Amino acid sequence: MAYENAETDLDTVTDWVNDWDWLDPQWGPNAIDIWNQVRAETDMASTERYGRAFMPVTMDAVQSVAHDTEHFSSIWVGVARPDAVRIPAPPITSDPPDHQGHRRLLLPSFSPKVINLMEKDLREYCRSLIADLDGPDGPAERADAAGQYAQHIPVHGIAQLLGVPESDADMFRDWIFRNFQLAPKDNDVRVKLFEEMGEYFGRLMARRLEEPAEDMVTLVANAEIDGEPVSQELKLGYLRLLILAGIDTTWSAIGSGLWHFGQHADQRAALVAANDDDLLWNTASEEVLRYYAPVTMARKIVADTEVAGCPVHAGDQMLLTFPAANHDPEAFEAADEFRIDRAKNRHVAFGLGIHRCLGSNLARLELVVALQEWLRAFPDYELDPHAETTWANGQIRGPRNIPVLLNR
Ligand code: HEM
Repeated sequence: MAYENAETDLDTVTDWVNDWDWLDPQWGPNAIDIWNQVRAETDMASTERYGRAFMPVTMDAVQSVAHDTEHFSSIWVGVARPDAVRIPAPPITSDPPDHQGHRRLLLPSFSPKVINLMEKDLREYCRSLIADLDGPDGPAERADAAGQYAQHIPVHGIAQLLGVPESDADMFRDWIFRNFQLAPKDNDVRVKLFEEMGEYFGRLMARRLEEPAEDMVTLVANAEIDGEPVSQELKLGYLRLLILAGIDTTWSAIGSGLWHFGQHADQRAALVAANDDDLLWNTASEEVLRYYAPVTMARKIVADTEVAGCPVHAGDQMLLTFPAANHDPEAFEAADEFRIDRAKNRHVAFGLGIHRCLGSNLARLELVVALQEWLRAFPDYELDPHAETTWANGQIRGPRNIPVLLNR
């Protein structure tokens, strides 16, 4: 499926400090430069495009918002029009005290013990995608490392875990596009999408109640918290979240890694020479997550307070710009250098505080395995100098097509 950012009907941004817009076409390819420019002027940018919404760009400011559930609610986790329909998708959209019960329910399915068992299958799957690049005319010379590789891997992972058919992958990616690109500005799109997703998961849960399986759809279909059954609305919310959170997040991280290493022959060579369990793979993949962190969240401000010296008011929106914090020179030595052996790397790509990513073990495994298998097959690949990479804007930022020469 070819990927394009949604058309925006808003004016092109010329002032990122007072008029930012994460759906502006400049955001996808240039977000890191944008945050750095804003940080040179202020700790916090603002916009009136979606009602009033703020964008902090320092680690301090992002941390203070993420840890403050009294003034900042997760009831809104994406900046959108103020009249946007907001549909619960716990635990990400829940606040204390409810949040803990939802999180506890899902947590065991993402433990290292469960996730590590997926490694062998993920490696085989990556190798099969690589084999599929070749056609009847012989070995491929070029490929789209996002469209033919990165985008499929997290779908495979989440399909195993949830128990959804992989053959529905195109539909999942269409849901993701509509949710992150179209719905922030169009309530009808959101309502229709959530109905479709609800019908799909409703049918699937009904089937699992009749024929249980070892998967998360079965777990959610039978969900109870403190001995009380969870409502159908919240069960659908869990499943919607897992599909929306589990796919293009990791697809973006894998794609960013492939895009980056396709331009750095020295770093590629160092990784090719390292064993799979070498520490370098760990530091290099964490650096991909720091440098190209794909996920920006948001909060609704529910009580007046101050962030980075800036007064903010109940009813306004606040981005949780984790990727911008990862480039704060106050928090990282040489923040703008990509160092594959960065030893001290307390990045916040997976968030902070009570909502820290539940899927981080799975995401890390998919990222490392995908990069290792790709580099094993194509140690000398490089970006095609005559073709362009496109980047998704908004909440989940990452390359959506990566034309490469395989050079084998
Ligand atoms: C590189 C890939 C990923 C990144 C960068 C990422 C990032 C994040 C971030 C920043 C949050 C915090 C949200 C907030 O504070 O509002 C989060 C939460 C979450 N993520 Fe991920 N994520 C990734 C992959 C995954 C995967 C593969 C799954 C599996 C389904 C997943 C499931 C979740 C869930 C369920 C939450 C909500 C946790 C809670 O509210 O307690 N994520 N993720």
